[in-house]
Amino acid sequence: MARPASSPADPVAAQGREFFFANGCSACHAVRGTDAEGVVGPDLTHVGSRLSVGAGILPNESEAFARWIARTDRIKPGVTMPHFRMLPPAELSALAAYLESLQ
Ligand code: HEC
Repeated sequence: MARPASSPADPVAAQGREFFFANGCSACHAVRGTDAEGVVGPDLTHVGSRLSVGAGILPNESEAFARWIARTDRIKPGVTMPHFRMLPPAELSALAAYLESLQ
């Protein structure tokens, strides 16, 4: 757990990493070993190896990550993370692939 995140080898995940910074996720989340140093949300350095996300609400799988990002407010009422419903599905999938790659 102490080691920094590795760079994604998968091209879709690598694209998701770009979106992670482009959409400001890094303003709230830290991914050690990258420029993401936000402290508002949980550290995501190893989020892909966690059993569940959203404080245990969702299983840890790609589709669940995409759902979480698009609908935080519906999945967890009162959540302080904004929803990203406006993102196109391909961008959500890439973000999810990136999160999954963070083992
Ligand atoms: C304004 C700050 C903010 C922004 C911007 C933000 N998040 Fe979050 N995020 C949070 C907070 C706070 C939580 C914790 C929510 C909870 O469980 O109540 C969270 C939770 C998460 C989780 C679940 C983590 C866990 O440990 O269960 C993931 C995954 C996540 N965010 C990904 C993203 C992605 C991807 C983006 C960009 C598209 C993003 N976040 C943008 C604040 C933010």
